[in-house]
Amino acid sequence: MAKSLFLLLSFLIQSTIFQPNLAQEYKTEKSTQIRVYWHDLFTGPNPTSIRVAESPQTKSSSVFFGAVVVIDDPLTVGPELSTDLIGRAQGMYTFADSKELGALMTMNFVFTKGEYNGSTISIFGRNHILSAVREMSIVGGTGVFRMARGYAHASTNATANSVEYNLFVNHY
Ligand SMILES: *[C@@H]1O[C@H](CO)[C@@H](O)[C@H](O)[C@H]1NC(C)=O
Ligand SMILES: *[C@@H]1O[C@H](CO)[C@@H](O)[C@H](O)[C@H]1NC(C)=O
Repeated sequence: MAKSLFLLLSFLIQSTIFQPNLAQEYKTEKSTQIRVYWHDLFTGPNPTSIRVAESPQTKSSSVFFGAVVVIDDPLTVGPELSTDLIGRAQGMYTFADSKELGALMTMNFVFTKGEYNGSTISIFGRNHILSAVREMSIVGGTGVFRMARGYAHASTNATANSVEYNLFVNHY
């Protein structure tokens, strides 16, 4: 009697503490590549990119040093804005380089369509805007992209007036 009670108790304790299903979920890391196009619309009647702050010195800076811009930019599946919307880039960028055109990008890619709908990827990195390819860090994510880490490559498409973002992301 005492022995079976002991067995029952130890079974109950094990099943509550170890939660085998949750542990399983974090065993296999996946790699995903995503290409989206980022549109920074700072002109027109409905801008998605607005400058919210700057220092008095910013006006005399040829590289906008000190300006802070908040964005809710469309992300599309093709280079042109007219292609399908797949999400939005929400966050801000700060002109944080006093000598060159360079921004600190702090933004979430918020997916609103397809298999990634509702999931986000967090990007944090230096954007040396005039370089052909800029690499930034992927520092986290939610939903499908829980525990995300990786990097993004950004390149400007002057014809389409958009920026191609190739995301290389590992997640669970
Ligand atoms: C995306 O998810 C939201 C919230 O769950 C839902 O309301 C919406 O219909 C979904 N959109 C698409 C295109 O699947
Ligand atoms: C830039 O965008 C145009 C569409 O406006 C497209 O034809 C061209 O292939 C794109 N360039 C690159 C390098 O993707």
